[in-house]
Amino acid sequence: MDGSIPPVTDAPTTPAAEDAERALAARARELLPALYFDPVQYDLLAQMTAPRDLPMYEALAARHGGPILELGAGTGRITIALARAGHEVVGLELSGPMLAAAHAKASAEGLDVTLALGDLRAFDLGRRFALVLVPFNTLNHLLDDDSLARALDAIARHLADDGRLVVDTFQPSPAFLGDAPERRRPILRYRDPYLDREVVLSEEHHYDPATQLDRIVWSYAVGGVEDARVEELTMRLFFPRELDAWLAHAGYALEAKHGDYDGRPFDARSPKQIVIARRAR
Ligand SMILES: C[S@@+](CC[C@H](N)C(=O)[O-])C[C@H]1O[C@@H](n2cnc3c(N)ncnc32)[C@H](O)[C@@H]1O
Repeated sequence: MDGSIPPVTDAPTTPAAEDAERALAARARELLPALYFDPVQYDLLAQMTAPRDLPMYEALAARHGGPILELGAGTGRITIALARAGHEVVGLELSGPMLAAAHAKASAEGLDVTLALGDLRAFDLGRRFALVLVPFNTLNHLLDDDSLARALDAIARHLADDGRLVVDTFQPSPAFLGDAPERRRPILRYRDPYLDREVVLSEEHHYDPATQLDRIVWSYAVGGVEDARVEELTMRLFFPRELDAWLAHAGYALEAKHGDYDGRPFDARSPKQIVIARRAR
């Protein structure tokens, strides 16, 4: 993997910016699953499956103020909600199509949001933030140690002295992973408004305990046609002490760890690991 590519915030107007945009598009193709090139499908699924995390981010934004940086901003679900609440927000995202969808939503509402095409493992926005958010399992897309170390380093360089990093990742379930996770299970039934068809979405997990990588296969039965669409995405799992150790090793001090969006303390049964950290040095 090569090094840092400058983030692109506007339509590129110089050859260097065009080169950066091309390099980021190539990196996105190499790294990201197909779902992140289909913002319409992402938003359709997100309407049904995205977590109820907005009140938590709104409360954190009210407490710590801005500016706020969201990493892996997607189609702007959180970035736009925070901008709507009056915060200064920057969203960084590697997928051009996801970012374009976020742009369209922000413009439709007349919101002043900065959206940057960039790789959260290597970015330099040249400024610091009161809050840096890594929501909705985005950290799980960093599959190797080098990616994770570089991302935590880049984040630390963007945190204000009194700034906070907020990471939301799920707590892996050893019981689920030990119970034939590769068995195909239906996880969602809905009517696709674009296809005007009933859809059953099923999931398989192909988990490798040695690498802690989980290759997830989503198969869509559309109008009774099995496997009408098949998608894969691989996620790295973070066990609780491991996540805390990574943060400490990267120079963060853990301020709080919640087990869900309502702020309850993290414990063995928590579905989530929501970590609030600051720079220790
Ligand atoms: C689960 S989605 C979350 C989107 C949005 N934050 C939300 O909550 O709806 C993860 C997002 O992270 C982006 N992403 C994954 N790896 C990335 C990277 N290395 N740099 C920037 N964005 C990345 C994906 O393209 C995707 O839009």
